[in-house]
Amino acid sequence: MIQRESVESVLHRESPGSRVTVYGWIRTARTGKNVVFAALNDGSCSDNLQVVFERSGFGSMDISDLATGACICVTGTVVESPGSEQAVELSAREFTLIGSSDGDYPLQKKRHTIEFLRTIPHLRPRTNTFGNIFRTRHQLCMAIHRFFDEKGFYYIHPPLITSSDAEGAGETFQVTTLPLDSVPVTDDGDVDFRRDFFGEKAFLSVSAQLETEPLALALGKVYTFGPSFRADPSDTRIHAAEFWMIEPEMAFYDLDDDIALMEEFIKYTASFILDRCPGELDFFRKYYEKDLDSRYSAVLDSPFERITYGKALEILDENASKFENPARWDRDLSSEHERFLAGEVFGKPIFVTDYPSSFKPFYMRLNDDGKTVACTDLLVPAVGEIIGGSQREERLDVLTRRVTELDMDIETYNWYIELRRWGSAPHSGFGLGLERLLMYFTGIENIRDVIPFPRTAGRMT
Ligand code: 4AD
Ligand code: MG
Repeated sequence: MIQRESVESVLHRESPGSRVTVYGWIRTARTGKNVVFAALNDGSCSDNLQVVFERSGFGSMDISDLATGACICVTGTVVESPGSEQAVELSAREFTLIGSSDGDYPLQKKRHTIEFLRTIPHLRPRTNTFGNIFRTRHQLCMAIHRFFDEKGFYYIHPPLITSSDAEGAGETFQVTTLPLDSVPVTDDGDVDFRRDFFGEKAFLSVSAQLETEPLALALGKVYTFGPSFRADPSDTRIHAAEFWMIEPEMAFYDLDDDIALMEEFIKYTASFILDRCPGELDFFRKYYEKDLDSRYSAVLDSPFERITYGKALEILDENASKFENPARWDRDLSSEHERFLAGEVFGKPIFVTDYPSSFKPFYMRLNDDGKTVACTDLLVPAVGEIIGGSQREERLDVLTRRVTELDMDIETYNWYIELRRWGSAPHSGFGLGLERLLMYFTGIENIRDVIPFPRTAGRMT
């Protein structure tokens, strides 16, 4: 078997004279009279390995197949590069054409716009931009697992198919095997879900929180990290129909403990990315967000800001003329309000706490004022909300009253309410949108560009 080496290891660990074999895709090929220069990339890093094919060394072999987009395996000797762009290059001795490339390969040497690349999701991972994004995405995921593992959390796996709409916002995708062209109906003319796959209505999960709470009330500190689905028709740059959420849930934590954990978590992941992704961050700084460093210093160099929803409304009122819609006590903040608060007023991440209960989900703990709940959103400059979290209502009577007031289906939530009958305890948690944090850390402005195959309203492919 041939010993493979990655481009990354050839560039950063090999010294001139070594003989190596590398597999990869040709990013660009420059053909001269006696020589072909190919820039080879295998995804191991953002840099390409320059491979030099001297025509004389290949006899009758056709090196004109070495076209942009082709996949090759090449063996050669590492040599000092006369060019200034790299320390070493590969002088090719033999190669195999693994996959040829037709002349109309869409990724040519010129820089393509990110909007154009969005139309070819199957090929865009082969560009520098997307290679850097997906490598950073990987490191962020590793940071997340490490953080929770180091803090003694257990990683758990709640279901993706549920019977409830946790957030109560009605943004669920329904899951059914009923034939849509001849739906069975009851005597009353309603759809007969007893004949559906589960014998009742089922949905894709919008949040794992409700199913995570029973595990926190047994194992202490747990977290989930998995996909969430929301049929939110809003076509914005921060909403996707399928995204990944991190949801820790902790017994015996109140809102202050919850907030402290969020801040520690964001700081930890930021340091991890700074440490693991220097090349990727250089690239994002150069092409996407020249002020990226100030984002990291806003995260790392000082405590996050904390204000109540009431205070946020005061600030927004003073600046009312700047917004399309005014902020109001009875309605959640809009993205423009959130970005204004974090970006222009404070210039760093801020926690907004104690929102009115009127538009918040039933499970948030009611404050003593009877009007607000013990919750927080973490807002960051440029992106807006990246975390929503709260202390959960652990009091049986208060929770039951709330479920009744909201006219929710008690049957569906019975098990959740029962957790408050036997060994209830104060507990808290939060949900972080992976893609939004990745947008903040990379400077990429559209959520469609941090997901390999994004799913958004009105568009599948
Ligand atoms: O604020 P949300 O709706 O909170 C919850 O779902 C809670 N049950 C979480 C919990 O306490 N365990 O969503 C949490 C986060 C948001 O702050 C945002 O970052 C992300 O999930 N998010 C989305 N990301 C991309 N596209 C969407 N459509 C999103 N909706 C929410
Ligand atoms: Mg939210």
